[in-house]
Amino acid sequence: MDLLLDRQNFGDAANHGKVISKEEAMELLQTWVLNERLQLHMKQVGHLMASWAKNVEQLSGEDQWRWQLAGLLHDADWDQWPDQHCKKIIEELEKRQVDPEVLHAIASHGPAHFGVEPVSKMDKMLFAFDELSGLIHAYSLMRPNGYEAMDVKGVKKRLKEKSFAANVSRDEINDAISRAGLQQDELIAFIIKHQSNNLH
Ligand SMILES: [Fe+2]
Ligand SMILES: [Fe+2]
Repeated sequence: MDLLLDRQNFGDAANHGKVISKEEAMELLQTWVLNERLQLHMKQVGHLMASWAKNVEQLSGEDQWRWQLAGLLHDADWDQWPDQHCKKIIEELEKRQVDPEVLHAIASHGPAHFGVEPVSKMDKMLFAFDELSGLIHAYSLMRPNGYEAMDVKGVKKRLKEKSFAANVSRDEINDAISRAGLQQDELIAFIIKHQSNNLH
């Protein structure tokens, strides 16, 4: 399956700052993504992106929504058109005149798969949150009390256990964390804290 995007430019510079509303984004998510687990993953990554934009980057409400939008829709075409991931959602958002920065973040959320390198902070954080968010959520599901009292150490143990969430690439996680210039512990702690507040 060749998912390379074969291009490096996305969207139109004239659309800088343009977004779609939360209602429109949720409608797209719900019509394109039938798998509820995938819907949850996308909402979780969207929430982490918004939380990072707000709490770490201290961006405006508008910017927080741009970050959230990238997370919310990054896997929108994966459920029904996996062989067109993430080409189809990018083309759809280009039609809807979405900010090129949001499109670039979506296009670079898997550099090894799509052939587009994460450049901006938004790009790098989406790549860093994607797989780790899923692994931490999988861990919460096997704990008797979910996220309650989950700590960084427990997550790191699961990361070392190759059979746990075996489809999550540890190499990709490490690559993403180093590209974002973060420490593994701080990113894990951030995800535990913010993901546990937002389970739906
Ligand atoms: Fe993806
Ligand atoms: Fe994802």
